[in-house]
Amino acid sequence: MDLVDPRIENYALAHTSPFAGLLAEAAGQTREEMPSPGMMTAVPEGRLLQALIKLSGARRVLEVGTFTGVGALLMAEALPDDGELITIERDEGHAAIARGHFADSPLGDRITLIEGDAREEIERVPPPLDLVYIDAWKPDYEHYYGAAVPLLSPRGVIVADNVLLSGSVLDAGDNDSARGIVAFNERVQADERVHNVLLTVGDGLMLAWRA
Ligand SMILES: C[S@@+](CC[C@H](N)C(=O)[O-])C[C@H]1O[C@@H](n2cnc3c(N)ncnc32)[C@H](O)[C@@H]1O
Repeated sequence: MDLVDPRIENYALAHTSPFAGLLAEAAGQTREEMPSPGMMTAVPEGRLLQALIKLSGARRVLEVGTFTGVGALLMAEALPDDGELITIERDEGHAAIARGHFADSPLGDRITLIEGDAREEIERVPPPLDLVYIDAWKPDYEHYYGAAVPLLSPRGVIVADNVLLSGSVLDAGDNDSARGIVAFNERVQADERVHNVLLTVGDGLMLAWRA
């Protein structure tokens, strides 16, 4: 299902800053070489994440699900000089590619890649976190969320990607990913500790911050 008329989507993309430099190279390599390049954070979501980091003055950011490192690179770019980006990836191959990009980047020293299962690793990340970007295994979104909320700084925000899952949230049936996302969206909506907004950007972005 197209969430937004593709003509509008193209128009919006044409009026959004494109990736440049190493970010564009890493994104291009991901498109050419990875079997599922659609997993990569796209330009609109990426630029929105950067805006949130800049505008909130975020200093410590956690990404759940690194893939080839594009999201980590773009968020690191928006951080201040003393900023820190922690990213968790359980797939060895993805982690190796991301490490290569981080090594090539002058911002690589802002990035810490943790290799392991985010279900467990997230519990070991020290607070406070100013932004948590949830972008890994869809059935586990509720778990990541439950672990992330107590780690948030007072100005902290959680951003979760793919919360419309191409519209499958309207009829999840026995699709585990869609069911996981529906449960996550309902959990956030019912959580009195946060205020939240579900944006129809990309495949759907949920933003949640302390109420
Ligand atoms: C959608 S991609 C992430 C895209 C990335 N955030 C970006 O900006 O390009 C999801 C990634 O999460 C990883 N992943 C899935 N389940 C995970 C888990 N439980 N722990 C850590 N990584 C996981 C996958 O291997 C995959 O690389």
